[in-house]
Amino acid sequence: MNKIIVSILLAVILVLGINKIADVIFYVEKPEKSAYQVASNATTTSTTSSETSASESESGNIMAIFASTSAAEGAKVFKKCAACHSIAEGGANKIGPALWGVLGRKSGALPDYKYSKAMAAHGKPWTFDEMNGFLIKPKDWIKGTKMSFAGLKNEKERAAVILYMNENTNSPLPLN
Ligand code: HEC
Repeated sequence: MNKIIVSILLAVILVLGINKIADVIFYVEKPEKSAYQVASNATTTSTTSSETSASESESGNIMAIFASTSAAEGAKVFKKCAACHSIAEGGANKIGPALWGVLGRKSGALPDYKYSKAMAAHGKPWTFDEMNGFLIKPKDWIKGTKMSFAGLKNEKERAAVILYMNENTNSPLPLN
């Protein structure tokens, strides 16, 4: 019995002792801690700002890029799309839906084309930004789309083909 009490006491003393030691360590480390916090705040800020600028150059303001390219350039880029899409007025659906007048139209809206469930459910109008985001990597923008196209990594190419589509329509979206 005595042995048990003694060992419990020893355990308590040990725990208290460890607490003391921990307190001492804590006090010693305190100034270091706040210095570290400042450093980590600075890191967070710089990460956030670099993330913002990365996404801006990726999918941000595509209208700013329009000035550096043209619909004529876009006609060349559209060769990558033409295997699956017609663009002329009255053009038929091919593997993909007809793209005459696509900008401003709701996505997945042609009644005579069988869209994927994902595209039919997406339902957002094709604005410049929406189209730009989609064309970077279609399968990332609309998960489950059946458009088997890797995407246009080059922002000028995207801007050009968007300008081209905006000319092949009865109602172009305003450019500014
Ligand atoms: C390999 C064939 C293929 C290629 C190449 C292709 N597409 Fe598509 N595209 C499709 C298919 C299929 C769909 C229908 C997607 C769905 O229903 O999920 C589609 C859908 C679209 C839509 C949505 C239209 C609507 O009515 O909502 C747009 C816009 C579009 N494509 C633009 C392009 C552009 C621009 C290019 C070239 C840079 C391109 N596509 C290249 C097959 C293709």
